[in-house]
Amino acid sequence: MVRKHLITRLRNLTRPASHLHSHCPNFLQTRRHFSDAPPPPASALPPPPPASNVHSKSSLNQTELNKFASIADTWWDAEGPFKPLHVMNPTRLAFIRSTLCRHFRKDPHCTRPFEGLKFVDVGCGGGILSEPLARMGATVTGIDAVEKNIKIAHLHAELDPITSSIDYCCTTAEKLVEEQRKFDAVIALEVIEHVAEPAEFCKSLSALTDSGGAILISTINRSMRAYATAIIMAEYVLHWLPKGTHEWSSFLTPEELVLILQRSSVSVQEMAGFVYNPLTGRWSLSDDIGVNFIAYGTKNNE
Ligand SMILES: C[S@@+](CC[C@H](N)C(=O)[O-])C[C@H]1O[C@@H](n2cnc3c(N)ncnc32)[C@H](O)[C@@H]1O
Repeated sequence: MVRKHLITRLRNLTRPASHLHSHCPNFLQTRRHFSDAPPPPASALPPPPPASNVHSKSSLNQTELNKFASIADTWWDAEGPFKPLHVMNPTRLAFIRSTLCRHFRKDPHCTRPFEGLKFVDVGCGGGILSEPLARMGATVTGIDAVEKNIKIAHLHAELDPITSSIDYCCTTAEKLVEEQRKFDAVIALEVIEHVAEPAEFCKSLSALTDSGGAILISTINRSMRAYATAIIMAEYVLHWLPKGTHEWSSFLTPEELVLILQRSSVSVQEMAGFVYNPLTGRWSLSDDIGVNFIAYGTKNNE
C-alpha cells in the first residue's frame, strides 16, 4: 500500500511553483510551456477568448488517435495489444475503490460502493475500466475521441444488463465542458500521454469535476527506467504493445503532473506506483512511482 512518506513527498511537491521550477528540466519549460519569463504587457496580448471557449483548446492528437483506431477491434482480446491494461485493471481498480470510497465516505467492502455517484471515464477506449465501475454502482459516462472505440465499448457493454446502462459517447473532455457537464469523479487512465496539450486537458478534467469531486489520472513517468521498460521491453522485446505505442517525450513526471493539476485547481492527495512482478505476471500498488503511476486529486473550492 501507499505509505505516508509518499504523501509527505507530495506535500513537498505542491509547495509554490517557484520551488518546482528549479527541478523542472529546460525541456519542460519549452515543450510543456511552463515558463518563468515575465508576462508580456497587456497591450501585446491577443483579446481573451469568450467565456464559453475558455476550455475549448483541442486535446486531440490525430497521430495518437490513428494508432488506437487501427487496433480498436482488439479491445476485449485479453491476449491482444491491450493485455497490459487488462492485467493491470484489478490493481488500478483497487486504488480507485480505496481512494474514492474514502473521498465519498462509502463502505469499500460493499458490492456497489459507488451507487448514486456520477463518473466520467475520459478516453475510455473499449470500456475496460467503465464496465467494472458500473458494476460497482457508479452511473458511468464513457467518452473517447475514436468512434470505433465507442462502438466496440457499446457493443460489449450491451452483453450485460448492468453495463448496458453506461452512456458511451464519441467526444472529448473539452466538448463536455462546453456542454457544462459535471461529474462526482473524473477518471482518465493512460490517456494524458496521448493528448495534444496535457495542461489544457487537465483544465478540462477539472472543469468537469463537481465542487467536492475527485480526479484520477494514471500515466507513465518520463524516466530512464520507463524508457527501458515501458518502451524498449514492452514494445520491442516482449511485444506486449505495438511498436510506437508510446513516445517517451510525451510522458510526464509525477512532479509535472502535480504542477499542472495544481494550476487547474486540483490538489493531488495521493499517488501510487504500479509495479509488475515478472514471476507472478501480476501488477501491484507500490511506493515506486518511477514508471507507471496514478494520482488522486480533489477539486479546490473556487
Ligand atoms: C491507452 S488507451 C486507455 C484506455 C482506457 N482509459 C483504459 O485505461 O483502459 C487511451 C485512450 O484515450 C483515447 N484518447 C486519446 N486522446 C484522447 C482525447 N484527446 N480525448 C478523448 N480520448 C482520447 C484513445 O482513443 C484511447 O482509447
